[in-house]
Amino acid sequence: MKVGILTGGGDCPGLNPAIRGFVMKALDYGFAVYGIREGWKGLVNDLVDKEPLTVADVEELIDKGGTVLRSSRTNPYKDPAQLQAVKTTIQKHGFEAIVALGGEDTLGVASKLYKEGINTVGVPKTMDNDLSETDYTFGFDSAVQVNVEALDRLRDTARSHSRVIVLEVMGRHAGWVALYTGVAGGADYILLPEVPLNVEELCTQVQRAYARKGYALVVASEGVELPEEEHKETKVDAFGHVVLGERNVGEWVAKEIEKRTGLETRSAVTGHIQRGGAPSAFDRVLASRLGVRAAQCVYERDFGKMVALHGNDIVVAPLEAAVGTLRTVPKALYDSLVPLFNK
Ligand code: F6P
Repeated sequence: MKVGILTGGGDCPGLNPAIRGFVMKALDYGFAVYGIREGWKGLVNDLVDKEPLTVADVEELIDKGGTVLRSSRTNPYKDPAQLQAVKTTIQKHGFEAIVALGGEDTLGVASKLYKEGINTVGVPKTMDNDLSETDYTFGFDSAVQVNVEALDRLRDTARSHSRVIVLEVMGRHAGWVALYTGVAGGADYILLPEVPLNVEELCTQVQRAYARKGYALVVASEGVELPEEEHKETKVDAFGHVVLGERNVGEWVAKEIEKRTGLETRSAVTGHIQRGGAPSAFDRVLASRLGVRAAQCVYERDFGKMVALHGNDIVVAPLEAAVGTLRTVPKALYDSLVPLFNK
Protein backbone atom coordinates (compact mmCIF):
# COMPACT_ATOMS: atom_id res chain seq x y z
CA MET A 1 0.00 0.00 0.00
CA LYS A 2 1.27 3.51 -0.84
CA VAL A 3 0.70 6.02 1.95
CA GLY A 4 1.52 9.74 2.09
CA ILE A 5 2.42 11.48 5.34
CA LEU A 6 2.46 15.24 6.01
CA THR A 7 2.79 17.71 8.88
CA GLY A 8 0.75 20.95 8.78
CA GLY A 9 0.30 24.08 10.86
CA GLY A 10 2.69 25.38 13.51
CA ASP A 11 5.55 22.98 14.19
CA CYS A 12 6.03 21.61 17.68
CA PRO A 13 8.27 19.13 19.50
CA GLY A 14 7.00 15.59 18.99
CA LEU A 15 6.29 15.73 15.26
CA ASN A 16 9.51 13.93 14.37
CA PRO A 17 9.03 11.14 16.95
CA ALA A 18 5.47 10.70 15.63
CA ILE A 19 6.69 10.43 12.02
CA ARG A 20 9.28 7.93 13.27
CA GLY A 21 6.66 5.85 15.10
CA PHE A 22 4.34 5.82 12.11
CA VAL A 23 7.02 4.81 9.61
CA MET A 24 8.47 2.09 11.84
CA LYS A 25 5.10 0.41 12.31
CA ALA A 26 4.07 1.02 8.67
CA LEU A 27 7.23 -0.76 7.48
CA ASP A 28 6.22 -3.81 9.54
CA TYR A 29 2.95 -3.83 7.60
CA GLY A 30 4.88 -3.58 4.33
CA PHE A 31 3.57 -0.11 3.39
CA ALA A 32 5.55 2.29 1.24
CA VAL A 33 5.38 5.62 3.09
CA TYR A 34 6.13 8.79 1.11
CA GLY A 35 6.94 12.10 2.77
CA ILE A 36 4.84 15.02 1.53
CA ARG A 37 6.66 18.29 2.14
CA GLU A 38 5.20 21.45 3.73
CA GLY A 39 1.79 20.22 4.81
CA TRP A 40 -1.18 20.50 2.43
CA LYS A 41 0.96 22.74 0.23
CA GLY A 42 2.90 19.59 -0.64
CA LEU A 43 -0.20 18.06 -2.20
CA VAL A 44 -1.16 21.33 -3.93
CA ASN A 45 2.30 21.68 -5.51
CA ASP A 46 3.27 18.00 -5.71
CA LEU A 47 6.13 18.21 -3.23
CA VAL A 48 6.22 14.44 -2.77
CA ASP A 49 9.42 12.51 -2.04
CA LYS A 50 10.73 10.38 -4.89
CA GLU A 51 11.60 7.48 -2.58
CA PRO A 52 9.68 5.97 0.34
CA LEU A 53 10.92 6.63 3.87
CA THR A 54 13.22 4.00 5.39
CA VAL A 55 14.22 3.09 8.95
CA ALA A 56 17.46 4.98 8.37
CA ASP A 57 15.47 8.12 7.47
CA VAL A 58 13.56 8.13 10.73
CA GLU A 59 15.42 6.29 13.47
CA GLU A 60 17.48 9.30 14.56
CA LEU A 61 14.41 11.53 14.92
CA ILE A 62 13.42 10.73 18.50
CA ASP A 63 15.12 13.80 20.02
CA LYS A 64 14.69 16.24 17.14
CA GLY A 65 12.40 19.27 17.37
CA GLY A 66 10.51 20.72 14.40
CA THR A 67 9.48 18.50 11.51
CA VAL A 68 11.72 16.92 8.90
CA LEU A 69 8.76 17.01 6.51
CA ARG A 70 8.54 20.80 6.95
CA SER A 71 5.25 22.57 7.46
CA SER A 72 3.00 25.39 6.27
CA ARG A 73 -0.35 26.87 7.07
CA THR A 74 -2.07 25.98 3.78
CA ASN A 75 -5.83 25.72 3.46
CA PRO A 76 -6.69 24.10 0.10
CA TYR A 77 -10.40 24.67 0.79
CA LYS A 78 -9.86 28.41 0.24
CA ASP A 79 -9.39 27.83 -3.47
CA PRO A 80 -11.16 25.18 -5.64
CA ALA A 81 -8.10 24.98 -7.93
CA GLN A 82 -5.89 24.10 -4.96
CA LEU A 83 -8.35 21.49 -3.76
CA GLN A 84 -8.41 19.92 -7.21
CA ALA A 85 -4.60 19.92 -7.22
CA VAL A 86 -4.60 18.04 -3.91
CA LYS A 87 -6.86 15.34 -5.36
CA THR A 88 -4.84 15.13 -8.58
CA THR A 89 -1.56 14.68 -6.67
CA ILE A 90 -3.06 11.94 -4.49
CA GLN A 91 -4.28 10.13 -7.60
CA LYS A 92 -1.04 10.63 -9.51
CA HIS A 93 0.99 8.97 -6.76
CA GLY A 94 -1.59 6.25 -6.13
CA PHE A 95 -1.82 7.02 -2.42
CA GLU A 96 -4.38 4.80 -0.71
CA ALA A 97 -4.20 6.86 2.45
CA ILE A 98 -2.98 10.24 3.66
CA VAL A 99 -1.79 10.56 7.25
CA ALA A 100 -1.90 14.15 8.49
CA LEU A 101 -0.17 15.31 11.65
CA GLY A 102 -1.67 18.58 12.76
CA GLY A 103 -3.99 20.65 14.88
CA GLU A 104 -7.52 21.90 14.37
CA ASP A 105 -6.81 23.42 10.92
CA THR A 106 -4.76 20.62 9.35
CA LEU A 107 -7.07 17.94 10.72
CA GLY A 108 -10.08 20.01 9.65
CA VAL A 109 -8.86 19.64 6.06
CA ALA A 110 -8.27 15.90 6.62
CA SER A 111 -11.83 15.58 7.93
CA LYS A 112 -13.31 17.36 4.90
CA LEU A 113 -11.23 15.30 2.47
CA TYR A 114 -12.45 12.12 4.12
CA LYS A 115 -16.03 13.19 3.48
CA GLU A 116 -15.08 13.55 -0.17
CA GLY A 117 -13.88 9.96 -0.34
CA ILE A 118 -10.17 10.33 0.44
CA ASN A 119 -8.78 7.96 3.06
CA THR A 120 -7.32 10.08 5.83
CA VAL A 121 -6.03 9.45 9.35
CA GLY A 122 -5.20 12.28 11.76
CA VAL A 123 -2.52 12.51 14.44
CA PRO A 124 -3.12 15.31 16.97
CA LYS A 125 -0.31 17.77 17.57
CA THR A 126 -0.32 21.28 18.91
CA MET A 127 1.43 23.12 21.68
CA ASP A 128 -1.96 24.75 22.38
CA ASN A 129 -3.45 21.43 23.66
CA ASP A 130 -6.83 22.61 22.39
CA LEU A 131 -8.03 19.65 20.32
CA SER A 132 -11.17 17.84 21.38
CA GLU A 133 -11.32 14.06 21.75
CA THR A 134 -7.80 13.76 23.18
CA ASP A 135 -6.60 14.43 26.72
CA TYR A 136 -3.24 15.79 25.54
CA THR A 137 -1.57 16.77 22.31
CA PHE A 138 2.18 16.42 21.94
CA GLY A 139 4.08 19.68 21.84
CA PHE A 140 2.20 21.01 24.84
CA ASP A 141 4.36 19.47 27.55
CA SER A 142 7.57 20.61 25.84
CA ALA A 143 6.25 24.16 25.42
CA VAL A 144 5.23 24.36 29.07
CA GLN A 145 8.70 23.16 30.08
CA VAL A 146 10.31 26.02 28.11
CA ASN A 147 7.97 28.53 29.72
CA VAL A 148 8.55 27.23 33.24
CA GLU A 149 12.29 27.59 32.74
CA ALA A 150 11.72 31.13 31.48
CA LEU A 151 9.57 31.95 34.50
CA ASP A 152 12.23 30.58 36.86
CA ARG A 153 14.79 32.88 35.22
CA LEU A 154 12.43 35.85 35.35
CA ARG A 155 11.91 35.21 39.05
CA ASP A 156 15.64 35.77 39.66
CA THR A 157 15.50 39.17 37.97
CA ALA A 158 12.17 40.15 39.49
CA ARG A 159 13.48 39.33 42.97
CA SER A 160 16.84 41.02 42.42
CA HIS A 161 15.29 44.25 41.11
CA SER A 162 12.08 44.24 43.17
CA ARG A 163 9.98 44.22 40.03
CA VAL A 164 6.79 42.82 38.67
CA ILE A 165 7.34 40.75 35.51
CA VAL A 166 4.64 39.59 33.11
CA LEU A 167 5.37 36.57 30.91
CA GLU A 168 3.24 36.30 27.76
CA VAL A 169 2.82 32.77 26.43
CA MET A 170 1.14 31.26 23.36
CA GLY A 171 -1.87 28.97 23.30
CA ARG A 172 -4.29 30.78 21.03
CA HIS A 173 -7.85 30.85 22.42
CA ALA A 174 -7.22 28.15 25.02
CA GLY A 175 -5.44 28.86 28.28
CA TRP A 176 -3.77 25.47 28.80
CA VAL A 177 -0.23 26.72 28.23
CA ALA A 178 -0.71 29.74 30.50
CA LEU A 179 -2.39 27.72 33.25
CA TYR A 180 0.19 24.93 33.34
CA THR A 181 3.08 27.41 33.07
CA GLY A 182 1.68 29.55 35.87
CA VAL A 183 0.99 26.65 38.20
CA ALA A 184 4.29 24.85 37.54
CA GLY A 185 6.22 28.12 37.76
CA GLY A 186 4.49 29.40 40.91
CA ALA A 187 3.06 32.57 39.31
CA ASP A 188 1.19 35.08 41.45
CA TYR A 189 -1.54 35.56 38.86
CA ILE A 190 -2.55 33.79 35.66
CA LEU A 191 -4.56 35.36 32.84
CA LEU A 192 -6.44 33.00 30.54
CA PRO A 193 -8.69 33.68 27.53
CA GLU A 194 -11.43 31.66 29.25
CA VAL A 195 -11.59 34.02 32.26
CA PRO A 196 -12.69 37.63 31.69
CA LEU A 197 -9.89 40.07 32.47
CA ASN A 198 -10.38 41.89 35.78
CA VAL A 199 -7.54 44.42 35.96
CA GLU A 200 -8.49 45.62 39.41
CA GLU A 201 -8.33 42.12 40.87
CA LEU A 202 -5.08 41.43 39.04
CA CYS A 203 -3.48 44.57 40.50
CA THR A 204 -4.74 43.78 44.01
CA GLN A 205 -3.17 40.29 43.85
CA VAL A 206 0.06 41.66 42.42
CA GLN A 207 0.27 44.25 45.23
CA ARG A 208 -0.40 41.62 47.88
CA ALA A 209 2.29 39.29 46.52
CA TYR A 210 4.70 42.21 46.18
CA ALA A 211 4.02 43.32 49.77
CA ARG A 212 4.93 39.82 51.02
CA LYS A 213 8.05 39.05 49.01
CA GLY A 214 9.12 42.18 47.15
CA TYR A 215 8.35 41.01 43.62
CA ALA A 216 5.54 39.40 41.64
CA LEU A 217 5.18 37.21 38.56
CA VAL A 218 2.21 37.16 36.20
CA VAL A 219 1.59 34.74 33.31
CA ALA A 220 -0.64 36.05 30.52
CA SER A 221 -2.00 34.04 27.62
CA GLU A 222 -1.70 35.71 24.21
CA GLY A 223 -5.43 35.10 23.72
CA VAL A 224 -6.66 37.15 26.69
CA GLU A 225 -9.42 39.55 25.68
CA LEU A 226 -8.33 43.14 26.26
CA PRO A 227 -10.69 46.09 26.58
CA GLU A 228 -11.75 46.71 22.98
CA GLU A 229 -10.35 50.16 22.50
CA GLU A 230 -6.90 49.02 23.54
CA HIS A 231 -6.03 46.75 20.66
CA LYS A 232 -6.71 46.29 16.99
CA GLU A 233 -6.88 42.82 15.50
CA THR A 234 -5.52 42.92 11.99
CA LYS A 235 -3.48 40.15 10.41
CA VAL A 236 -5.15 36.74 9.90
CA ASP A 237 -3.65 33.45 8.65
CA ALA A 238 -4.87 31.14 5.83
CA PHE A 239 -7.49 29.66 8.13
CA GLY A 240 -8.79 33.07 9.21
CA HIS A 241 -7.15 33.06 12.66
CA VAL A 242 -5.98 36.37 14.07
CA VAL A 243 -2.21 36.46 14.60
CA LEU A 244 -2.57 36.88 18.36
CA GLY A 245 1.09 37.51 19.12
CA GLU A 246 0.83 40.88 17.40
CA ARG A 247 -1.62 42.13 20.03
CA ASN A 248 1.20 42.31 22.62
CA VAL A 249 -0.99 41.25 25.51
CA GLY A 250 1.93 40.92 27.95
CA GLU A 251 3.14 44.43 27.26
CA TRP A 252 -0.37 45.84 27.64
CA VAL A 253 -0.84 44.06 30.98
CA ALA A 254 2.57 45.20 32.25
CA LYS A 255 1.85 48.84 31.41
CA GLU A 256 -1.54 48.64 33.10
CA ILE A 257 -0.03 47.16 36.29
CA GLU A 258 2.67 49.84 36.41
CA LYS A 259 0.15 52.63 35.77
CA ARG A 260 -2.26 51.45 38.45
CA THR A 261 0.14 50.27 41.17
CA GLY A 262 3.24 52.39 40.58
CA LEU A 263 5.36 49.21 40.77
CA GLU A 264 8.17 48.90 38.27
CA THR A 265 6.93 46.31 35.77
CA ARG A 266 8.47 44.58 32.74
CA SER A 267 7.13 42.10 30.24
CA ALA A 268 8.76 39.17 28.43
CA VAL A 269 7.52 36.94 25.62
CA THR A 270 8.75 33.40 24.95
CA GLY A 271 7.11 33.43 21.49
CA HIS A 272 8.33 30.84 19.03
CA ILE A 273 11.04 29.67 21.44
CA GLN A 274 8.17 27.60 22.92
CA ARG A 275 7.86 25.62 19.71
CA GLY A 276 11.49 24.67 19.18
CA GLY A 277 13.98 22.33 20.79
CA ALA A 278 14.03 18.71 21.82
CA PRO A 279 10.67 17.16 22.77
CA SER A 280 10.17 16.30 26.44
CA ALA A 281 10.19 12.61 27.39
CA PHE A 282 6.39 12.76 27.79
CA ASP A 283 5.96 14.15 24.27
CA ARG A 284 8.39 11.62 22.77
CA VAL A 285 6.42 8.72 24.25
CA LEU A 286 3.00 10.16 23.40
CA ALA A 287 4.03 10.99 19.83
CA SER A 288 5.59 7.55 19.30
CA ARG A 289 2.48 5.78 20.58
CA LEU A 290 0.18 7.92 18.42
CA GLY A 291 2.34 7.35 15.33
CA VAL A 292 2.29 3.58 15.80
CA ARG A 293 -1.48 3.59 16.35
CA ALA A 294 -2.03 5.68 13.21
CA ALA A 295 -0.26 2.99 11.15
CA GLN A 296 -2.59 0.43 12.67
CA CYS A 297 -5.57 2.57 11.58
CA VAL A 298 -4.30 2.52 8.00
CA TYR A 299 -3.74 -1.25 8.16
CA GLU A 300 -7.29 -1.76 9.44
CA ARG A 301 -8.60 0.76 6.89
CA ASP A 302 -10.12 2.66 9.78
CA PHE A 303 -10.24 6.03 8.02
CA GLY A 304 -11.74 9.39 8.93
CA LYS A 305 -10.29 8.90 12.40
CA MET A 306 -7.87 10.68 14.70
CA VAL A 307 -5.70 8.70 17.09
CA ALA A 308 -5.98 10.07 20.60
CA LEU A 309 -5.00 9.75 24.24
CA HIS A 310 -7.80 8.87 26.67
CA GLY A 311 -6.42 8.49 30.16
CA ASN A 312 -3.38 6.32 29.53
CA ASP A 313 -4.84 4.55 26.50
CA ILE A 314 -4.38 5.32 22.83
CA VAL A 315 -7.78 5.18 21.15
CA VAL A 316 -9.39 6.42 17.93
CA ALA A 317 -12.02 9.14 17.58
CA PRO A 318 -13.88 10.53 14.55
CA LEU A 319 -11.88 13.35 12.94
CA GLU A 320 -15.06 15.37 12.66
CA ALA A 321 -15.61 15.32 16.43
CA ALA A 322 -11.99 16.24 17.10
CA VAL A 323 -12.08 19.41 15.03
CA GLY A 324 -15.67 20.46 15.75
CA THR A 325 -15.10 22.34 19.00
CA LEU A 326 -12.07 23.85 20.64
CA ARG A 327 -11.11 22.24 23.96
CA THR A 328 -10.66 25.09 26.38
CA VAL A 329 -9.78 25.11 30.09
CA PRO A 330 -12.85 24.09 32.12
CA LYS A 331 -13.93 26.69 34.66
CA ALA A 332 -13.88 24.08 37.44
CA LEU A 333 -10.20 23.34 36.80
CA TYR A 334 -9.28 27.01 36.86
CA ASP A 335 -11.36 27.61 40.00
CA SER A 336 -9.73 24.68 41.76
CA LEU A 337 -6.30 26.26 41.21
CA VAL A 338 -7.17 29.84 42.20
CA PRO A 339 -6.11 29.16 45.84
CA LEU A 340 -2.55 28.91 44.56
CA PHE A 341 -2.44 32.61 43.72
CA ASN A 342 -5.17 34.53 45.55
CA LYS A 343 -3.11 35.03 48.70
O1 F6P B 1 -1.06 27.01 17.20
C1 F6P B 1 0.24 27.08 17.67
C2 F6P B 1 0.69 28.52 17.80
O2 F6P B 1 2.01 28.50 18.32
C3 F6P B 1 -0.22 29.41 18.65
O3 F6P B 1 -0.04 29.23 20.02
C4 F6P B 1 0.17 30.76 18.13
O4 F6P B 1 -0.86 31.71 18.33
C5 F6P B 1 0.42 30.52 16.67
O5 F6P B 1 0.73 29.14 16.55
C6 F6P B 1 1.53 31.34 16.07
O6 F6P B 1 1.55 31.08 14.72
P1 F6P B 1 2.72 31.45 13.73
O7 F6P B 1 3.83 30.44 13.92
O8 F6P B 1 2.10 31.33 12.39
O9 F6P B 1 3.18 32.84 14.08
